[in-house]
Order: sequence, then C-alpha cells, then structure tokens
Amino acid sequence: MVAADERVEPRDWMPEAYRRTLVRQIAQHAHSEIIGMQPEGNWVTRAPSLRRKAILLAKVQDEAGHGLYLYSAAETLGVDRAELLDLLHAGRQKYSSIFNYPTLTWADMGAIGWLVDGAAIVNQVPITRCSYGPYARAMVRICKEESFHQRQGFEVLHHLSHGTPEQHAMAQDAVDRWWWPSLMMFGPPDDRSPNSARSMAWRIKRFSNDELRQRFVDMAVPQAQALGLTLPDPDLRWDEEAGHWRYGPIDWDEFARVLTGDGPCNAQRLEHRVRAHEDGAWVREAATAYAQKQAARARA
Ligand code: 3HC
Repeated sequence: MVAADERVEPRDWMPEAYRRTLVRQIAQHAHSEIIGMQPEGNWVTRAPSLRRKAILLAKVQDEAGHGLYLYSAAETLGVDRAELLDLLHAGRQKYSSIFNYPTLTWADMGAIGWLVDGAAIVNQVPITRCSYGPYARAMVRICKEESFHQRQGFEVLHHLSHGTPEQHAMAQDAVDRWWWPSLMMFGPPDDRSPNSARSMAWRIKRFSNDELRQRFVDMAVPQAQALGLTLPDPDLRWDEEAGHWRYGPIDWDEFARVLTGDGPCNAQRLEHRVRAHEDGAWVREAATAYAQKQAARARA
C-alpha cells in the first residue's frame, strides 16, 4: 500500500515497526503542541492591547486543540493518551527542542509566530500526504490554523520593526534569539538522522530534515527583508547557481544539550506540565464519572 502511495488506515495490517514509528512521531508532535502553549501563555496577561490578547489567546487555544487532535490520531494506533503523557512526564518521550527557550519580551510572540509556526508549516504540510490516514488528515486542519499563527506573528514583528527605535530593537533581539533554534526544529542533519531513511521509505516523512530546513530558510530570508530585520547569520548568502540561500553552521552541540534536557527551560517546562496535569486530575475524573453515568443511562 505504501509503495503504491495509498493510505494506511487504523484497521489495516501494518508492520509493528511502522506502527511504533508513527506512535513515536505523533506523540512527539502532540507533546510539542501541549508544551508549546507555555512560552506564549506566559504573555497572555501582558499583551499590549485587547486585540493582541485575543489573538494570542486564540493561538494558544489552537495549540491545545492540535495536541488533542494528535493524541486522538495516536490512539488509533492502539496507545492511550494517558500512557503517552506518563512517558512525556517521565522524560521518556520528546517534545520539540524549540520550546525550551524563554520568551523574554512581547516581540518573542512575533518571532515565535513568524519563525516557529512558519517552520512548523514547512515541516508539516508534507505530512498532509503521509501514508498514515489519521495523521495526514489531522495535518490538514492543523496546517490551516498554523498559517494564521504565522501571519499574526509576522504582523507583530512588522508593527514593532516599523515602530520606535526601541520597538525595532526589541523585534531584532527576538529574531536574533529565535532564528537558530528554529532551524534546529527540522531535526539533525540528514547524515545524523537515524529515523529518516525508514520514515521516508514508509512515506511518513516525504522530505529530509535538510531539504525542509533549506525550504524554510529560502522562505524566511525575503520575509526578514520585508520586515526590515536582519538574520543573525554572517554567512548567509544567495547561491545563484543553486537557487538557495546558503546559511552558516548550526550549533549541533547546543541542539544535543537541549535534547538531553540541558536547555534554558527544560526543567521549568516539564515541571509546569506535570503540575498542570496533576491540577487537572479532578476534571478528568469528573468527565469520566459523567461519561459513565451517561452510558449507564443509555443502557437503562
Ligand atoms: N526537538 C526534539 N527532538 C528532536 C528534534 C527537535 N527539534 N529533532 C529531532 N528530534 C529527535 C527525534 O525525535 C529523534 O529522537 P527519537 O528517535 O527518540 O524520537 C532524534 O531526534 C533523531 O532525529 P530524526 O531526524 O532521526 O527523527 P525524526 O525522523 O523523527 O525527525 C522530526 C524529527 C523532523 C521532528 C520529525 O519527528 C517530525 O517531522 N515530527 C512531526 C512534526 C513535529 O513534531 N513538529 C514539532 C514542531 S512544534 C509544533 O509543531 C508546534 C507548533 O504549534 C509550532
């Protein structure tokens, strides 16, 4: 089926390794959405206007929805979201490295929307054509909503960049801090990506990490010019022959540190996540009790 570019559905037979790879990636994706609510949630009460507050609230709420969508897609593979969350809380499943960086100013809301959600779109639009039906279909709506996320971020930065010199400096500082971690979102270089070959053979991944990273850089450079902001890469140059923007070396030691828990905010993000999960236990219990009552009534 995969070789014929057909969709695999939950009731189809699938190799156990294919199922496990999907659970691994979809769980990492779902966890990223949920943890990704924290950096921006940090600024909801400090948004500079009611309009910005409403937009940011809508975005953070979208991310929660994306997480629930993706946990539902993972559950079609026979796992339970409670089990996946336990693995996340125990540090045995990952979430995207990008969310282990702090959001220091309001301009970070713009940089996250423009760069992080922009990178997510480049990384995830191809997944709308991945071989596993539920994951591919979840991506259609998620990518549409990510487009709103990216546009609102671009607008925040454009407003600041064309504001006072202090606002321009704040926007530039945020882009300087978020640019390289956004490139790391696409994963390690292809020659150090243990999962890519198999994920591409199974059409879970349609393009390699480096291909999508390059696509993102080619998209972001002209947008930075339109914003009137620079990118913090002195090696950035246009390669006329190749038709691509060549960029400087990525700090893969920093990437490895963040992945092994030694990023600026890893401990804080996980502590907050575990506390939110524990504080929300009563809601889950109440919803379960209500569902059981409803089911008992339906049987009576
Ligand atoms: N952060 C954390 N872990 C990462 C990572 C990153 N940026 N990049 C790679 N890794 C991990 C992989 O999960 C893998 O570890 P594992 O085997 O323990 O799972 C290891 O590093 C090796 O990387 P590979 O390239 O071999 O792994 P993959 O083939 O899984 O590729 C990926 C990594 C490109 C992130 C791929 O998993 C993917 O496309 N995932 C779906 C998209 C996704 O998760 N995006 C998260 C972005 S945040 C987001 O979408 C929220 C939005 O609102 C901004």
